Amino acid sequence: MLKGIFQTKSIASILSSAEGSGGHLKRTLGAWQLTLLGIGAIIGAGIFSTVGSAVAGAADRPGAGPAIVLSFVLTAVCCGFSALCYAEFASRVPVSGSAYTYAYATLGELVGWIIGWDLIIEYAIGNVAIAISWASYFNDFLIGFGIHLPSWMLTDYRTAAQAAAQLADANAAGIDPATLSALVRQNASALDTAPHLIGIPFVFNVPAFAIVALITVVLVRGVRESAWFNSTMVVIKLAIVALFIGLGFKYFKSSNMTPFVPNGFGGISAAASILFFAYIGFDAVSTASEEAKNPKRDMPIAILGSLIVCTVIYILVAIALTGMAPWRELGTADPLSTALGIAQRGESGAKWEGFLLNVGAVIATTSVLLVFQLGQPRIFFSMARDGLLPRWAAKVHPRFGTPHVTTILTGVFVAVLSGLCNINEIVDLCNIGTLFAFVLVCLGVMLLRFRDTDVEPGFRVPGGPFLVPILGTVSCVFLMNSLPATAWWRFVAWLALGMSVYLSYGYIHSVAGRATGRPTRVDLPLKLAAFGFLALAVGIFVLPHELSPSDLLDSVKDSSAAAHVRAMWGIAVSLAGVVFAIGGLAVSRER
Ligand code: ALA
Repeated sequence: MLKGIFQTKSIASILSSAEGSGGHLKRTLGAWQLTLLGIGAIIGAGIFSTVGSAVAGAADRPGAGPAIVLSFVLTAVCCGFSALCYAEFASRVPVSGSAYTYAYATLGELVGWIIGWDLIIEYAIGNVAIAISWASYFNDFLIGFGIHLPSWMLTDYRTAAQAAAQLADANAAGIDPATLSALVRQNASALDTAPHLIGIPFVFNVPAFAIVALITVVLVRGVRESAWFNSTMVVIKLAIVALFIGLGFKYFKSSNMTPFVPNGFGGISAAASILFFAYIGFDAVSTASEEAKNPKRDMPIAILGSLIVCTVIYILVAIALTGMAPWRELGTADPLSTALGIAQRGESGAKWEGFLLNVGAVIATTSVLLVFQLGQPRIFFSMARDGLLPRWAAKVHPRFGTPHVTTILTGVFVAVLSGLCNINEIVDLCNIGTLFAFVLVCLGVMLLRFRDTDVEPGFRVPGGPFLVPILGTVSCVFLMNSLPATAWWRFVAWLALGMSVYLSYGYIHSVAGRATGRPTRVDLPLKLAAFGFLALAVGIFVLPHELSPSDLLDSVKDSSAAAHVRAMWGIAVSLAGVVFAIGGLAVSRER
């Protein structure tokens, strides 16, 4: 086996190096501020955008309809178990780095690396979804001033192509296009109206790209997350959400609530797995443990408190949303605005509520973008310090004092994807990656108990070392299981790519690994293994992602199937990759 890849970092040494390092953060945050930090990171695109496709469903899954309120409760319970596990870690290992540090401490370097790599999906990919949601509400805001951006600037190529196909199908079937949603009709027009670059229609979400670019510039120049700024943002978010809930009760129609469960438990659980996105963020509180005045007491209060407060808010928003408008009409990127528009249809006079809602959504999503865009470079920073990423990733700007290299890299990655991607697919990917990180944290808590002598006393999950972590693991796997095949393929490909990076760089540069006498150069077997994982990732990326494994095999067997060629190539390259990866690792072990 590779040398020392399961060797853990001593928790005592993690704590003492954090305390001893010159860059140790000041312990200034109390339970109240930490809870607000959690609420600030949680309430964003999930409740303002993602809830739309969870209620109405999409081509590859049923919607929950008015029973969305049950999906919110289900997801909150699932998150609750993981939140308890995060609370134990944050209370007993109060250093920054979050899940990456916890996994390194309890499950060893390889799992630490996997989780650090996986957190890119939570933070950077999550931000892509948030930027797309931001763009949608920003567009509504502009429309309030009579400014109409062309449709090719407001979506991505794939979404536009899907909408155009939907429209063509409707026309072919003699269905009135007016029965399609306004969003589908708008997206369908993007391909026709777009300017062409070398013959290809240029369809690109310009506002989403622009907001990420702007935030990146601001972060490179240096904006410190301040408790005051965050509290102001939270107050604005809560005010807007309260306004929406109030309007929901004003325009509530009980006829919109029937049938309450239109698609059975399948619809409820599919929606629950999407809504998980709305809850992501309580775990981000743990990144501030190094700044907590009394982490043993305050971290559990803040992590669990922010989750409970947001659950109550989400339940009320869900009732307001589905009571205001027929659930089938809510599958837009700005469902709160859509619901209000439907409820106020036919009313005369200026619609100040809609305007306020759009402004509030823009502010709320901007603040979450900031938190996550700030968090990603910090995780890269921790990984570079441990030698798993190149040292230059941990460089600090001489004038601004910010980790500018990783901030710019994160910015370019997120901005470009924001212009090119579909929000629903991105949310699925973010959810599967984050759920996987939660599973590893739950497993880590079980191991933490066996190292009690090494760890500080503090909050412990109730019911002993196994009950809550096992419930947490099972519930995360349950939510992962409800996500579509597309998300699974992309996630596995991402992990394979991560293994390739680890074997070709992190394994030999790891600070802890060097101490165990690992080679300082990548030898041939390791190179082959790294190449194998890379080929596996490429092979999986080539596969038709929308197919389940059994449909994939059917496509391979059936030479007339539309996806036959892609399926053949994808499987061939993946298998070759597996052979190289296993062969390389086996020879490496012999040596
Ligand atoms: N929970 C965060 C949001 O909904 C990620 O924007």
